[in-house]
Amino acid sequence: MSRSRRISVIGAGYVGLATAVGLAVRGHEVDLVETRADRLESLLAGSLPIHEPGMAAAYADAGTRGRIHPMASPAPGSDLLLVCVGTPIYEDGSSDLRQIESALRSVADLAASGTPVVIRSTVPAGSGETLAEWLGGDTSRLFANPEFLRQGHAIEDFLDPARVVIGTFPAADPDALALVKEVLYFSNCALLVVGMAEADLIKNGANAFLALKLSFANEMAVLCEALGADVTRVIEGIGLDPRIGGTHMQPSFGFGGSCLPKDLCALTNVGKSYGLAMHVTAAASEANADHQLHFANRIADLMPPGCRRVAMLGLAFKAGTDDTRSSPALQVAQMLFERGFEVAGYDPQANANAAHEMPGLIVATSAQSAAAGAGVTVIGTEWPEFRDLDWAYLATIMAAPIVIDGRRLLDGERMRALGYHFEAVGAPTLHKAESGIL
Ligand SMILES: NC(=O)c1ccc[n+]([C@@H]2O[C@H](COP(=O)([O-])OP(=O)(O)OC[C@H]3O[C@@H](n4cnc5c(N)ncnc54)[C@H](O)[C@@H]3O)[C@@H](O)[C@H]2O)c1
Repeated sequence: MSRSRRISVIGAGYVGLATAVGLAVRGHEVDLVETRADRLESLLAGSLPIHEPGMAAAYADAGTRGRIHPMASPAPGSDLLLVCVGTPIYEDGSSDLRQIESALRSVADLAASGTPVVIRSTVPAGSGETLAEWLGGDTSRLFANPEFLRQGHAIEDFLDPARVVIGTFPAADPDALALVKEVLYFSNCALLVVGMAEADLIKNGANAFLALKLSFANEMAVLCEALGADVTRVIEGIGLDPRIGGTHMQPSFGFGGSCLPKDLCALTNVGKSYGLAMHVTAAASEANADHQLHFANRIADLMPPGCRRVAMLGLAFKAGTDDTRSSPALQVAQMLFERGFEVAGYDPQANANAAHEMPGLIVATSAQSAAAGAGVTVIGTEWPEFRDLDWAYLATIMAAPIVIDGRRLLDGERMRALGYHFEAVGAPTLHKAESGIL
């Protein structure tokens, strides 16, 4: 364990909180700076503004040891400043760096007095010089250390990363770089010290590649539906080739979250700003939008005559989080709502965020109340508890026993044995007449 340092973490979202809690676990003292009043209030009261497994207990433990100090603006005295604010995109796909700009300007005085600054947010490759200007112009103590954590596994990924990437400018101060390494490189994983643009390209490129894999798996799912084949067996067979690998290819009706769709667009946008076509990343984004539309069409086609209610079980972009940013479940719910369907949704963690993001959604307090009266019930997020619902009972309260599984969560044979007309993404489908429902 390296010596204990005082570190300021700017931004208390999923990355800032994982960083602050992870550093506290490593014995450091953390000033956690958050400008959003509701988030700061909740942190000061000892509770987390987000759902992330294991984080509430770790935050409480850090609080008991006096290692995390939430505050509204940066204070002097830190050894290192870590910027973890959000970097959303505008509608045209370009990056909205306003949070980064305000964060860097807010610590420019501290940086001028010698404190190194590390950008942990994901920024578009090539923006390093602009970031340095917002900080006052000195590039010797500005570094990048992109975060690769997965929501749902944030703390374990922070504490045990697959690799650590540190981006530097050519004029990097060796003492400042040594401090960045001391604090942020603490496991036996690979360490890459590269140029600033390379660090950002590694982060943007990694997310874009994960998105490509998912878009490919989802496209294969649609093709399997047309051919009456099962995509899980197909993907398993493809992934057994060690040159390909089978991870991160779980087929569904689309990928989402605050990172993959955004970083795919941002990378495409950076390439286009250099006059490049960026065929591959642009196609993966288009395919993702198409896969969600295809799924919404399937749901609409399944709706029995006289019924208008859809139950969406799961609203978060994936299981294990309350995050609904670019959630495919919510985007499909919105498409159906705009076509005049009544959509009732339920999520074990994300109801509040979903209600905020989709005003037309009927937010149910349980899976049962979402499914009551539904003509079609949809698995939108792969929460394991949906597998254990009393599906025999649910069939008695739905308007029709029709279920479509967008996440390959449920056992089709069991559902059919219970009398359901059951369909799933990328699976062979019985005609409704064959299933005896219509
Ligand atoms: N969420 C992930 O899984 C993940 C993983 C890896 C990388 N990233 C990247 O990390 C960055 C942060 O992501 P996130 O999901 O934690 O975002 P987030 O939106 O959840 O959190 C950002 C927080 O920063 C706060 N903030 C904004 N400006 C501030 C300022 N000037 N001073 C203090 N606080 C300020 C916001 O109020 C917000 O609470 C993004 O660039 C994202 O792309 C995210």
